[in-house]
Amino acid sequence: MQGLIDQFGDILGKEYVLTQDQDKAPYLTDWRKRYVGKALAVLLPKTTIEVAKIVKLCAANHVSIVPQGGHTGFCGGATPDETGQQVILNLKRMNQIREIDSANQTITLEAGCILQAVQEKAAAQDFLFPLSLGAEGSCMIGGNLATNAGGTNVLRYGNTRDLCLGLEVVTAQGEVWNGMKGLRKDNTGYDLRDLFIGSEGTLGIITAAVMKLYPLPISQWTTLVASQDIASTIALLNLFQKRATSLLTGFEMMTQESLALNEKHFPQMANPLKGNPPFTILIELSDHESEEHVRKLLETILEEAFTAELISDAVIASNLSQANAFWHMREHITLAQAEEGANLKHDITIPLSSLDSFIQETDALMRKRYPGVRIINFGHLGDGNLHYNIAPPLGSDPKAFNLANEKAIHELVYSQVERCQGSISAEHGVGQLKLEGLRAHKGAVAHDLMKTLKRALDPQNILNPHKVVSI
Ligand code: FAD
Ligand code: MLT
Ligand code: ZN
Repeated sequence: MQGLIDQFGDILGKEYVLTQDQDKAPYLTDWRKRYVGKALAVLLPKTTIEVAKIVKLCAANHVSIVPQGGHTGFCGGATPDETGQQVILNLKRMNQIREIDSANQTITLEAGCILQAVQEKAAAQDFLFPLSLGAEGSCMIGGNLATNAGGTNVLRYGNTRDLCLGLEVVTAQGEVWNGMKGLRKDNTGYDLRDLFIGSEGTLGIITAAVMKLYPLPISQWTTLVASQDIASTIALLNLFQKRATSLLTGFEMMTQESLALNEKHFPQMANPLKGNPPFTILIELSDHESEEHVRKLLETILEEAFTAELISDAVIASNLSQANAFWHMREHITLAQAEEGANLKHDITIPLSSLDSFIQETDALMRKRYPGVRIINFGHLGDGNLHYNIAPPLGSDPKAFNLANEKAIHELVYSQVERCQGSISAEHGVGQLKLEGLRAHKGAVAHDLMKTLKRALDPQNILNPHKVVSI
């Protein structure tokens, strides 16, 4: 293998080929600490041409490649297997923002750009780059595209897929596909861009992209409201959709249990609403007209919601720092879960019309079969995305509980999701975590079509094998 390592060094420069254990270690464990892999080397390319050369060399030597961005994914997609024969291709050095095109309202950038840096660069030129998620300080745009990340602005601006106009991709053969035209209309046959978005590094390596920009809103108002049940919460969402239409940019749900976990680990994150309501909803409106306009609109809708008894309490953020505190409270639930220890995550979408019955029935089944489990629910309710998480009973050994019950708990949730015509992955992707779940619940025809695509684009199976689909 030394010969191959030397050839990687010839392409990248020796210092960008990491082979020592202490240098490779930071790239081998996923964010949730569920998966720990091994790697022949960690490769750090700087250009698309270097990526293409590496892929050609790996293909010639039958070495498989695990593409990696910020390694914040929840499904083990960017973590190598345990053989020590795979290479990690981490794109963090490809972090140039190539251009902001004001007339076209687009930003052209490399895959290794950190999401927050992209938001800041756009804002400095008076544009909004609307993709926003808790990991934005470390996840990268290539990873966001490869997972088709969602986040908190989806109900207004869509997923990462909806924000992308063009891609540059290195294929499994080491060829460069340049699809960087940045057009809003292009009906020239199959949509190759959409094929690579969400493919989690299994069909090609995304090296650059053209993404949409939007005008920055003039004013944003954020409020927390208390709701007693899911039915009222959905009625509240529908009220906001009707009255605020496109001004509604955030609608996030947090249960009492998830905020209690927050308070346990981050006492400074106390809920400002009185009396620990069953559901706390964070709502954000964004306006391009005036502060006065959006504030009045928010107050009017809240009044209507109180009158209709959809909400029992509300706190409107009086300044930016209070609005940020509301968002921090929402985003800290993930961190509180991590502090609490091993847990089981389900990232699902259910049509909103079935969400209430899904939760009631699944909760009842879960509590009957696993007495004492803690159900930590929260999510992007505005787009039907629920993070339905299970923490082991207090006092039990989390690792032992998960080992004994993980498969059956996933299956319970996934079969309920299928029954409700939902999806077992709303935004986090599949990776290695949901490989079996996808095989069982995607539908046989769809699963076969996915395998056909994988075989056609990567016949040697060198790009992130055994993630998403196994061929
Ligand atoms: P990685 O984890 O490095 O990789 C993810 C997958 O993409 C892997 O399969 C990898 O092989 C592949 N990949 C990475 N880069 C490339 C590339 N250039 N070309 C081809 N394949 C590639 N996700 C959401 O959707 N919504 C959320 O609200 C959200 N919140 C989060 C909050 C926290 C605190 C954390 C830790 C994570 C959160 N995530 C969320 C999950 C995660 O941040 C996203 O999936 C993100 O898009 C992953 O980006 P990354 O750069 O870290 O990718
Ligand atoms: C979120 O919505 O906060 C993220 O998807 C993270 C999570 O599910 O824990
Ligand atoms: Zn989420």
